[in-house]
Amino acid sequence: MKNKIRRTLENPDRLSASEIMNYLPEECLCRNIECFNCLDSTNTRAKQFAEAGEPEGTLIVSEKQTAGRGRRGRSWSSESEEGIYMSFLLRPNIPTQKVSALTLLSALAVVKAIKEICSVEAEIKWPNDVMIAKKKICGILTEMSSEENDIRYVIVGMGINANTTDFPEEIKDTAGSVYLQTGKKVNRCELTAAVIRHFCNSYERFCKEQSLASFVEEYNAVLVNRDKEVRIYYGMVENSTSDQTDTGIARGIDSEGALLAEVDGKIQRIISGEVSVRGLYGYV
Ligand code: BTN
Repeated sequence: MKNKIRRTLENPDRLSASEIMNYLPEECLCRNIECFNCLDSTNTRAKQFAEAGEPEGTLIVSEKQTAGRGRRGRSWSSESEEGIYMSFLLRPNIPTQKVSALTLLSALAVVKAIKEICSVEAEIKWPNDVMIAKKKICGILTEMSSEENDIRYVIVGMGINANTTDFPEEIKDTAGSVYLQTGKKVNRCELTAAVIRHFCNSYERFCKEQSLASFVEEYNAVLVNRDKEVRIYYGMVENSTSDQTDTGIARGIDSEGALLAEVDGKIQRIISGEVSVRGLYGYV
């Protein structure tokens, strides 16, 4: 295929399927990697692979995207060949309402991989933005195809600003990259493999336990919102019919991935949507 990547000696920092694979243990769920120079969106390509019957564990990676997609219909800046754009195809045997947990586990995998490969502490802004020193360096878009309560497939798409040096005007104050935050270029193949390895370990455990209970402590330890003031949209609060907003103090997630926020001494469960830490991360 013409669009597929070849890593050469003249081109040392290219994403390459064989190099990523070399960093993965043999027993890893990820046994098929497709690497491209340019795609519209790795999530869209992964969906095509899924519809064509590709097995769980297929990873699509691209140097660039022309139509990278973000959450809530936003776009994801993907012009730079210094980033990592990847989508992982999964066919989990879990109820559809537990799929959002996979996004939280992906964020946790990115934090662990960055710590392991780049020796820097990243944090999570609930539910799934990865930050270093208040700058967003990774976003995650999880998409699912299901029939009634049966999952056909899930695509977990991750965009990591690895060695990125330039951002479009509209995000340049809020976005960062691992390189800009650490001053060191990262081997993107190694980082990609570390993310997938950490994610696969968590994924297999989560599918067995069908709960985030054994991840709560680890997740809360890197939760940037923890014990900080958060704005709460009551439309996202369990058992609430109000559409008002309020402020509370985030106390961490529970075993279902909901954010627990304390408001006037009472704990509210926020099940999805926006949380902003006022003064710190007003935009994300
Ligand atoms: C966000 O809005 O924070 C989520 C951004 C997700 C971007 C990634 S890049 C790889 C994959 N392909 C896409 O089109 N989107 C995701």
